[in-house]
Amino acid sequence: MSNESNRREFLKQSGLLTGGALLTTLPSFASSYGFNSSADDTIKIALIGCGGRGRGAALQALKTKQNVKIVAIADAFRDQLDDAYKILNQNPELAKRVDVPEERKFVGFDAYQKAIPLADVVILATPPGFRPMMFEEAVKQGKHIFMEKPVATDAPGVRRVLAAAEEAKKKKLNVVVGLQRHYQPNYREMIKRIHDGALGDIIGGSVYWVSGGVWVKPRQPNQTEMEHQMRNWYYFNWLCGDHINEQHIHNIDVANWVKRGYPVSAQGTGGRQVRTGKEYGEIFDHHIVDYVYEDGTLINSQCRHYEGTYSKVDEQFLGTKGRVDSFGRQSILKDHKGGAIYTHNGKGDGDPYQIEHDELFAAIAKHEYKFWDAENGAKSTMTALMGRMATYSGKVVKWDEALNSNINLFPDKLAWDATPKLVPNSDGFYPVAVPGKTVAV
Ligand SMILES: NC(=O)c1ccc[n+]([C@@H]2O[C@H](COP(=O)([O-])OP(=O)(O)OC[C@H]3O[C@@H](n4cnc5c(N)ncnc54)[C@H](O)[C@@H]3O)[C@@H](O)[C@H]2O)c1
Repeated sequence: MSNESNRREFLKQSGLLTGGALLTTLPSFASSYGFNSSADDTIKIALIGCGGRGRGAALQALKTKQNVKIVAIADAFRDQLDDAYKILNQNPELAKRVDVPEERKFVGFDAYQKAIPLADVVILATPPGFRPMMFEEAVKQGKHIFMEKPVATDAPGVRRVLAAAEEAKKKKLNVVVGLQRHYQPNYREMIKRIHDGALGDIIGGSVYWVSGGVWVKPRQPNQTEMEHQMRNWYYFNWLCGDHINEQHIHNIDVANWVKRGYPVSAQGTGGRQVRTGKEYGEIFDHHIVDYVYEDGTLINSQCRHYEGTYSKVDEQFLGTKGRVDSFGRQSILKDHKGGAIYTHNGKGDGDPYQIEHDELFAAIAKHEYKFWDAENGAKSTMTALMGRMATYSGKVVKWDEALNSNINLFPDKLAWDATPKLVPNSDGFYPVAVPGKTVAV
């Protein structure tokens, strides 16, 4: 079932679809969360994962109009937590909303378990490998959630998120996933028009994240293997899922949104052409994937990390009546003769990273149940992972076999002296997938 029809079906079943308004009021148990009662309307936030995006998301939460307060922060590493604490306190106005004494700063693999109980809303911004267990715990404890994309790095993780997403719906917990194009005005307007038929049937498309790549954190003396992988998380699949998952999910998710569904199969090619050093762990530097949807539509996906080359982060779709060549902040739907069907110039549009927090916190403050992004977040994550399964194996991978895969990348034990499942050889190089030999699912 498509994203939109899933959502409407859920609302219908819950008796919530009234007059087109996709919201409901939270049941009375919400007041037991301690916010918005006459005694205290503070919405308490815990930040889990204090890196670049966690800091950004926390500041965006602090800038919302609601009476919010960050009451706990958690990170695997003390230095990351301390840097984040400084940044959260840099702006004196926002710092009034930061109330994190030493006893509410938590460090280590179990830090999330100590922070979650203290909050009404949790921000989950660790590397995605940890998302399933942290999302599961936050849902179990009845918290509203902002969680970054992607939401897993392997199929067992996706299944955990899907199961917890069902629980979250039952508990009417608002969940926003940081696939922020869903909160970006031009995407909302364009895709609404595409769904209303402005381009006819969408019969093809291409989605891109081609760029120079990201940071690398070289191995330091005295680091255990676990610490090295945690610090350099981008290059290890149990933590990151490869860049087709970590970055390109944004564009793949737009294709799913436009198609109102998820692909039935994928096949592709990929490898390590440029980024071959031992500091780059196991991930590929390029993936080219054909995604096939239920109606036969083929969406080409292309992502690569080559320094010094052409960059493009975008999506194109072809319909029977017209096309859209570029989104960005400014979008134009055109007919096949080049005439504009609809233009969105993007001037004055808000920042989608801020909008996602503004809308989430407004809903929570009003006790409304408006956001259930986790299921789509999990299925778009699965789409990206299915692409990785296809490029690593060189095989055609079908949706059901991908989702049911039991390849579990997560370590058996989380501890600084524990050994991750993937270890380097005596020269420091990690095993890398070999198409034709690597097992797909
Ligand atoms: N929506 C977007 O546009 C966007 C942009 C950037 C990053 N992201 C996503 O945000 C997430 C974080 O990325 P980032 O760029 O902030 O990375 P980062 O490395 O800057 O931060 C990750 C933080 O999580 C901490 N951490 C790791 N394991 C942990 C654990 N088990 N418990 C607690 N803390 C842990 C790390 O120490 C680090 O401080 C990723 O999923 C990434 O894909 C989204």
